[in-house]
Amino acid sequence: MKKAIYPGSFDPFTLGHKDIVERALKVFDHLYIAIGANRSKKPLFSTEERKSQILEIFGKNDHVSVVVFDTLLADLALKLGTKVIIRGLRAVSDFDIEFQMALANRKLDPELESIFFMTSIEYSFLSSSLIKEIASMKGGGLSGFVPQNVERDLLSKFQ
Ligand code: COA
Repeated sequence: MKKAIYPGSFDPFTLGHKDIVERALKVFDHLYIAIGANRSKKPLFSTEERKSQILEIFGKNDHVSVVVFDTLLADLALKLGTKVIIRGLRAVSDFDIEFQMALANRKLDPELESIFFMTSIEYSFLSSSLIKEIASMKGGGLSGFVPQNVERDLLSKFQ
């Protein structure tokens, strides 16, 4: 069985992330969506809130699991028994940081491979921070950016 990990902060999970999951599932039999802690970011949603948001979207899909981790990604990969990390690329500007992360992960475990999927053009401008900014100021109209349940949760955070 071909398994892979799709790690991210997912604060919150967007339609751009969903697009990457759906693309990766065309190539892999099982995907672990792994909610990690980027220590330079102050999250809006707790990891448990993010986990239940993603489970609401993919919970019925046997090909998807959602995990929370607070370790090195390389250690999580070892624990889950997979050697493949999935990341999305939105634009050329993502390349530098992704290149750095892929090489760091490979240094930590030489058997780890990073595979990149191109985000659909309609989501190439999206980021979780942008969505939080719009939600905090606009108070609605997020349906083209995030799944319905995430829009609901964002609106209740900023009420
Ligand atoms: N659609 C929409 N947005 C996207 C996207 C897509 N397809 N692809 C990336 N993004 C956005 C995210 O929304 C996020 O936006 P934000 O900065 O406004 O929050 C941004 O791109 C990148 O965030 P993300 O993909 O979540 O990665 P990250 O840089 O926050 O890293 C981890 C998160 C968990 C993967 C990383 O910190 C990690 O691996 N931590 C474990 C520690 C470790 O192993 N470190 C060493 C290895 S480098």
